[in-house]
Amino acid sequence: MTTSPYLPDPSDKAATVEAMFDRVAPKYDRLNRLLTLRLDVAWRRAAIREIEKPAGSLVIDLACGTGDMCNDLITAHYCAIGFDFSAGMLKAATTASPLVRADVLRLPAPTNSVDAITCGFALRNFTALEPFFAECARVLRPDGRVVLLDVGEPKSKLLRFGHKIYFRKIVPFIGGLLSDRAAYSYLPASTAYLPESRELVDMVRVAGFRNVTHRRYGLGAAQLVVGTAL
Ligand SMILES: C[S@@+](CC[C@H](N)C(=O)[O-])C[C@H]1O[C@@H](n2cnc3c(N)ncnc32)[C@H](O)[C@@H]1O
Repeated sequence: MTTSPYLPDPSDKAATVEAMFDRVAPKYDRLNRLLTLRLDVAWRRAAIREIEKPAGSLVIDLACGTGDMCNDLITAHYCAIGFDFSAGMLKAATTASPLVRADVLRLPAPTNSVDAITCGFALRNFTALEPFFAECARVLRPDGRVVLLDVGEPKSKLLRFGHKIYFRKIVPFIGGLLSDRAAYSYLPASTAYLPESRELVDMVRVAGFRNVTHRRYGLGAAQLVVGTAL
């Protein structure tokens, strides 16, 4: 993994990430919309279309932040509960869904108890992915769906170059002007924590999912991994 001055020491990662999201929470939604040119809204909705469960199904949104995904889940007629460990993000949330302050690597939810899981733009922030996917497999009922949305990188060289300038130079600059320079420098640097798409798919499959698919959105700026629990 590439090192960066913006990435925390591995032993401090969870505490640093939690404190960082507490700090940026009040302006998080506004910055998201601005920096993705509102594409984050379309990507969350595309993710929710992959759930393919009947209305009223229980969907938990992991690392829910300020509750954007929960709101879209409600609009899609699901019964949504959000989980996040940042008190600041939960406090800034504007959603009618119940929200639970918890570490998503140790979910306070019974085994085989939920119909689907969503997780938006958070994989990079976890201390490890395998225990997270294992926890998803534990709480999902058989045939439950896991839908994981995160940032990505375009495949073509030219697009990757443009994306690199935007994501690694312009995003930290705007984020620094309007919110928190360190947090919006961590954002592009944290992609170093994301495995390649094939490895990501394999990790999800090994955790206990079948028909695992990987798709790109926004010319590759976002990626979506979907699987069905065994
Ligand atoms: C980039 S934000 C994404 C928020 C939201 N899902 C969205 O789509 O806008 C990442 C979120 O992950 C949360 N997070 C990171 N690690 C976590 C963990 N181990 N347990 C719970 N929440 C975590 C942070 O507090 C933060 O709210």
